[in-house]
Amino acid sequence: PTIRRTEFMPLPWTVLRVDLHFSLHPEATVVTSRLACVRNRAVDAGALVLDGDELETLALTIDGCDPQPGTVRRSASRIELDIDGDEAELEIVTRINPRANSTLSGLYQSRGGYFTQCEAEGFRRITWFPDRPDVMARFTVTVEGERASCPVLLSNGNLVEEGELPDGRHYARWEDPFPKPCYLFALVAADLVVLERRELTASGREVLLQVWVEAGNLDRAGHAMDALVHAMRWDEETFGLELDLDRYMIVAVSDFNMGAMENKGLNIFNTKYVLAKPDTATDADYEHIESVVAHEYFHNWTGNRVTCRDWFQLTLKEGLTVFRDQQFSADMLAAAAGAEAAASARAVKRIDDVRVLRAAQFPEDAGPMAHPIRPDSYQEINNFYTATVYEKGAEVIRMLHTLLGPEGFRNGMDLYFSYHDGSAVTCDDFVEAMSEANGRDLDQFMLWYSQAGTPRVKAEGVWDGAAGSYLLTVSQYTPPTPGQAEKQALVIPLAIGLIGPDGEDRPLQLEGEAHPGGTTRVLELSSESRQWRFVGLDAEPVPSLLRGFSAPVILEVEEDDARLAFRMAHDADACNRWDAAQRYAERVLLALAAAAADGRAMAVPQGFVDAFARLLRDQRLDAAFRAQALSLPAEAYLLERMQPADPAALRAAQIHLGMTLGSMLADDLRALVEGLVEPAEYRYHPADAGRRALINLALRYLCAARDARGVALAAQRFAEAGNMTDRFGALAALVHGAVAEAEGALAAFYRRYRDDALVLDKWFALQAGMWRRDPAAPPTLARVRALLADAAFSLANPNKVYALLGSFFRANPAEFHLPDGSGYALWAEQVIALDAANPQVAARMARALENWRRFTPALQAAMRPQLERVRDAEGLSADVGEIIDKALAD
Ligand code: ARG
Ligand code: ZN
Repeated sequence: PTIRRTEFMPLPWTVLRVDLHFSLHPEATVVTSRLACVRNRAVDAGALVLDGDELETLALTIDGCDPQPGTVRRSASRIELDIDGDEAELEIVTRINPRANSTLSGLYQSRGGYFTQCEAEGFRRITWFPDRPDVMARFTVTVEGERASCPVLLSNGNLVEEGELPDGRHYARWEDPFPKPCYLFALVAADLVVLERRELTASGREVLLQVWVEAGNLDRAGHAMDALVHAMRWDEETFGLELDLDRYMIVAVSDFNMGAMENKGLNIFNTKYVLAKPDTATDADYEHIESVVAHEYFHNWTGNRVTCRDWFQLTLKEGLTVFRDQQFSADMLAAAAGAEAAASARAVKRIDDVRVLRAAQFPEDAGPMAHPIRPDSYQEINNFYTATVYEKGAEVIRMLHTLLGPEGFRNGMDLYFSYHDGSAVTCDDFVEAMSEANGRDLDQFMLWYSQAGTPRVKAEGVWDGAAGSYLLTVSQYTPPTPGQAEKQALVIPLAIGLIGPDGEDRPLQLEGEAHPGGTTRVLELSSESRQWRFVGLDAEPVPSLLRGFSAPVILEVEEDDARLAFRMAHDADACNRWDAAQRYAERVLLALAAAAADGRAMAVPQGFVDAFARLLRDQRLDAAFRAQALSLPAEAYLLERMQPADPAALRAAQIHLGMTLGSMLADDLRALVEGLVEPAEYRYHPADAGRRALINLALRYLCAARDARGVALAAQRFAEAGNMTDRFGALAALVHGAVAEAEGALAAFYRRYRDDALVLDKWFALQAGMWRRDPAAPPTLARVRALLADAAFSLANPNKVYALLGSFFRANPAEFHLPDGSGYALWAEQVIALDAANPQVAARMARALENWRRFTPALQAAMRPQLERVRDAEGLSADVGEIIDKALAD
């Protein structure tokens, strides 16, 4: 069934207080729930409605009595109760089976412990409840379990009581002082150890911070703890938001569908986003942990104190919280880098964000799942935890920040909290607060919430040498998306600069202005097309548009190779300098791919090699930036730009370009690897991480070119590495180059880390992403099939599935999209197998084929029968069903 945003109705009844009692047992946990319910005065009349999913109901009473005959309507997923009066106390007893719960939604077991995941609709798998975010209740929770297997019993809020029980059991009672929707409920009962720290909040309250992990992992919890403290300080300083609880807990669990969950006072995290030590985690892991810890912490205000009225508003909390975590990470990087390198460090973070948006969100916006950041309908809400809701949602918040300025944005946030603290609201409420605080009409801006699709912005400049003026014409156009044929003009902040022939930015003075104002300015395009005339220029400028990626759009501007090379060398905006390199590389790669597809010879333009070499040699640029600028665009993004998408041709182009750059620049690359000195002791620091990233990239090009001395360098660095970033970087270079040393290194890596689940995920992912450089070599598919049978692999563990199947389906297009369709057969078989156990994970894998219509006719013909095979599979979940239906719809 399709749920529509416009059909929202407030409930006739709500819940004020919840008293839960869990008697934990692996196969038969008994949950007793006492609900203090009241009528909603705003609604005339109606039944009290409860949601349930796979519950065995043992008892249900209203005010201590069985319901009157004829007042109850029941189905497997819903109970409706007709109740006289305005108040009622319900007592409901259910029995659930955590061990059999392979969906990892609701209460489930992982490695002998009990964990919950309730967002979006998992609470109904625990007990009957009005499972909607606008029902906010005060929770008291008693957890009772076996002391030996579950010495630690946690839930939200404050621990108010604990004690012993007969038969080796014990209990703990928790009280959460803040009303919350049930999606923020959490329970953990497991054998864990804790890293603790006490901190003072800005107002001087002492808070207890805890990171709970399995025994043996305490030495990997410190980074997450540091991140938590940094996030606390940042939110105090940036937004005046303080931790409101006495105790804040983070728990790491190995089996988890997503990254992490912001349950009030008891965040539950995928181990991947908690555990780090230099020997097992890369710089990228350290960075992700810091940002996910911060993300969940920031939700305490943007998500928990103010939550969503309904799930269509998801971006209200997710877009805003991603924006906050992006700003936090940028500030952290800038502070660590020091004053001189701060701007570059920020740009590197921004580039990372843009890469993710382009590789994940642009394709989504151009396919059958395209939806506005606030969707209008869904079949399964879990399918809408998307790059659009999260990443494009964050871009929309960033545009508000750009348009209103940091102070205006902060004022809007303050007003938002002053109005809505403690309630469940909509995206309109947020934008209205921003509007009121700044005295600015944002009605047209709201189109960003309702229109799907990536807008195209076209820009053209005309130079008038006699007048010294430059006329810039900018227009916008958003292509149609499913269900939205017509689009209106959006408000697009366009940050621009004009670069003089000497490479220096010119002051920007618009016609009619008395003085120039700065070298980067934000123009606002709010109609279909508009012109701006810049005056007082001494020579024809080169425009640098969309600086800092000021809007989530595709910029279409005519630039020849020389101009791209010029901007690669001179653009003062680091983000645009990187983008110029990306555009140039894209142009070269797509031309090579076209040649490969036609069977013509591939030739790399010398101009590109030269521009690339200049960046590589520019010692004034910091290493992290150079690593970004010299990394080629993501394959997923390039396929999106190819018409039709031809993964084999693109792969041939990438191999050819990598070999060319690696061999032509081998001397520089080797010198760079040998010349960048690293400190002996690993520390997670942007300067060190930048050097490591640049070295690993250089090794990659050298191995791609089969440069003998380069390969030897990679093998040596693999053997002697003192941390995971170096070890895995060298291994990846060897594997990427498919050099003879690769297999031995993979085996050595496996032996060293055979008992370390998170490190093995890297090992699986790396092999799933292997390129075939020798057409006679066996396809990567054969290796993936073999790895599915590896003792360390398990289809029941989402991290393993994402590492092996996710990497193969998404990160290795040429090997997945084999002309004989064997990749698609594997896809269908695995999606169907996964779906029987865990629909959310299955749906994520299913999405790998949603853009099937973008591929060559021959590949489409091979994909269709496999899509139909999944569609017709018996007992298909709503999750996968929605994805396949939308993919196959015409
Ligand atoms: N709110 C969580 C976060 O962004 C994600 C929860 C996703 N849950 C789901 N069932 N899709 O931090
Ligand atoms: Zn979130």
